[in-house]
Amino acid sequence: MNTTWHPNSWTDCPAGQQPEWPELGALDEALHELGTRPPLVFAGEARRLTDQLARVANGQAVVLQAGDCAESFDLSSADAIRDKLKVILQMAVVLQYSAGLPVVKVGRIAGQFAKPRSSGTETRDGATLPSFRGHIVNDITFDSDSRTPDPKRLLEAYNTSAATLNLLRAFTRGGYADLRQVHNWNQEFVASSPVGERYERLAEGIERALQFMTACGFDTDDAAMRQVELYTSHEALLLGYEQALTRQDSITGAWYDCSAHMLWIGERTRELDGAHIEFLRGVHNPIGCKIGPSTSPDDALALCEALNPDKVPGRLTLISRMGAEKVGDVLPAILRKVTDAGHPIVWECDPMHGNTYETDSGVKTRDFAVIMDEVRQYFDVHKAEGTWPGGVHCELTGDAVTECVGGGDALAAEHLSDRYETMCDPRLNGRQSLDLAFHVAELLSEFR
Ligand code: PEP
Ligand code: CO
Repeated sequence: MNTTWHPNSWTDCPAGQQPEWPELGALDEALHELGTRPPLVFAGEARRLTDQLARVANGQAVVLQAGDCAESFDLSSADAIRDKLKVILQMAVVLQYSAGLPVVKVGRIAGQFAKPRSSGTETRDGATLPSFRGHIVNDITFDSDSRTPDPKRLLEAYNTSAATLNLLRAFTRGGYADLRQVHNWNQEFVASSPVGERYERLAEGIERALQFMTACGFDTDDAAMRQVELYTSHEALLLGYEQALTRQDSITGAWYDCSAHMLWIGERTRELDGAHIEFLRGVHNPIGCKIGPSTSPDDALALCEALNPDKVPGRLTLISRMGAEKVGDVLPAILRKVTDAGHPIVWECDPMHGNTYETDSGVKTRDFAVIMDEVRQYFDVHKAEGTWPGGVHCELTGDAVTECVGGGDALAAEHLSDRYETMCDPRLNGRQSLDLAFHVAELLSEFR
């Protein structure tokens, strides 16, 4: 690995999962144009997130990283963004209330447009076309025009991220995330379920606590009550796009990828000598790296050394996505190796990506019980190793979709087609997400 780094030094390394753009001229034009656009987030915000994640690394806070598997360019979905925010706020308040610790909230949102694929092409009825790689590259419709990678989409990804971020900033700063609105985050279809009722009771508890504090003379009109910080994150997959939004901070001179506060490296692109590691090691944002079941303790340590050689707390989050069958066997030795080497890691459990399967009728799904099984084992492993479990990473939507089986409603496989809307992986719906939060909250409260 080079010791010198520049936003384009990744171009000397093998880069997996990059689309085959048909016209390099048009790609260059789009990237050049992106390079002239204002940053979406500021370096100071990314530093603040690093500081908050440092508290997670030290066992003084919890992290919730959640949102869509693949966001859409369809911005008629302002309501969908609001509803996703609602469920993230609900989950965070459940965790915070039960664990009695601050919850750092990071959305897979406002930029989660690029998807790694197991195959570059897809064949249907004898026709072979490029795979769908997320709206930043092409469209999901199976025809030649839609599937041809289009560099103009890079600019549309920027614009959609900006619009989403603007809406999120308005929601989280403008009173909507006020703790006194805690009841209003409970959407109708969630409120009418047992887990929604459980949430109502918790919300009443919070309301009473706020009234009590007001009666004691505390200022419950403080910004800490009225506003929430929701950070943005996405998989840094398309390195040209990420490079174009990378800027040198005027205060510190350090480079930041200003497309989101936090970026992560996916399971398929975490080769040590690959372009993704090379790019992300040089930007000063907090970064994540997925670690799947094939990760050895040496691999994990090498990732830490490459991505966080100075051992800065909050800089590196390792996102364990082992699958319920493997996590108990694979994770303990990794925790030991990395901890013994003195690396201050934010640990996260992604119980989604190791537990995806296809039903008999070929629908991609995940079973809530298996998701919870992985989370429980993940917590057990941390308890046994004396490490702090950090938090969870999940794919969800606020909507009443039917993509994952099980959960409080015992959603059955035959109902998956009722409202199966994801463009990529199956997501938890609003009820299942809240259910997961209550389970995680219980595990956290046992921890302390
Ligand atoms: C994802 O987070 O959507 C994803 C593709 O995950 P992984 O890299 O862990 O497979
Ligand atoms: Co996914």
